[in-house]
Amino acid sequence: MKKKRALSGIQPSGKLHLGNLIGALSNWVKLQDDYECYFFIADLHALTTGYADTDKLKENILDVAIDMLSAGLDPERSKLFIQSDIPEHSELHLMFSMITPLSWLERIPTYKGQIEELKEKDLGTYGFLGYPVLQAADILIYKADVVPVGQDQLPHLELTREIARRFNNFYGEIFPLPRDLLTKVPVLPGLDGRKMSKSYGNTIAISDPPKVIAKKISEAVTDPARVKKDDKGHPDICTIFSYHKIFNDAQVKQIYADCTSAKIGCVECKKMIAAKLSDHLAPIYEKRKSLENKKDYVRQVFAEGAKKAQALARQTLQEAKSAMGIM
Ligand code: TRP
Ligand code: SF4
Repeated sequence: MKKKRALSGIQPSGKLHLGNLIGALSNWVKLQDDYECYFFIADLHALTTGYADTDKLKENILDVAIDMLSAGLDPERSKLFIQSDIPEHSELHLMFSMITPLSWLERIPTYKGQIEELKEKDLGTYGFLGYPVLQAADILIYKADVVPVGQDQLPHLELTREIARRFNNFYGEIFPLPRDLLTKVPVLPGLDGRKMSKSYGNTIAISDPPKVIAKKISEAVTDPARVKKDDKGHPDICTIFSYHKIFNDAQVKQIYADCTSAKIGCVECKKMIAAKLSDHLAPIYEKRKSLENKKDYVRQVFAEGAKKAQALARQTLQEAKSAMGIM
């Protein structure tokens, strides 16, 4: 039986963190056997919010490329590429922009939400409003069957289907409707208890060495009510405990019991999780070290991935343009 096609993208916001690893990369790695996979670095999407300061963009793209390979994405099994290397994404985005009603874009929750959240940036641009139209083009240009994403991306996927339906209604059945492959992991809290995010400066990078991990963990917030070691803890509101739940299955029950009965102190508890995290990241860290000295190789892997992906992108674009009555 022919494999279904899976596609997803990640923005190049710099070195990837644990949240990116469990929320995206680890799941992508698992899909590689069962799906025909397309995974890309969404550099054009990064421009929609980061257009005013692009000094670090090239470096960030390469960092994400290295992280993707280090985490286990395999260029033999997946097409790995950089979005802007394939201009067909941009051209399909333009075609879709012709048929997408403004009201569809304005009601997407991330639109108003991000404008509020990133107040220091001027997001009153044409490009930012069109962010989800570009995402629809990313997905539909490969006629992806499934899109592995987190909860926050569901409105974008719904819009992708709406655009596909509208296109098909006008011009004939070109685009299959993709469905989400919802990543069933809890959102990883950052070191300060908020969502782990580069913009909050509360991350553990997957490229952090054990010493840095230990230091960051030692400074993380825990149960604020636990001042002295004899105070009983409340693991359910503790960031460190949520890391135990995800990365320390074997000991998590014991830690719950020991924390709530004040048998274990936060310092010790933190040492345990720091060690677990370092173990978990060790193979990725080693691979990253070796790839850091082979940047040309990494660039070449992504250039070859782009070539393979572009063959399909070109074909879909031709079909779409011809259906629309141009060329
Ligand atoms: N918007 C996605 C995010 O911020 C990234 C992305 C861009 C994407 N294009 C995509 C995800 C296409 C899935 C499919 O996480
Ligand atoms: Fe959190 Fe561990 Fe301290 Fe309990 S002992 S409050 S789980 S860090």
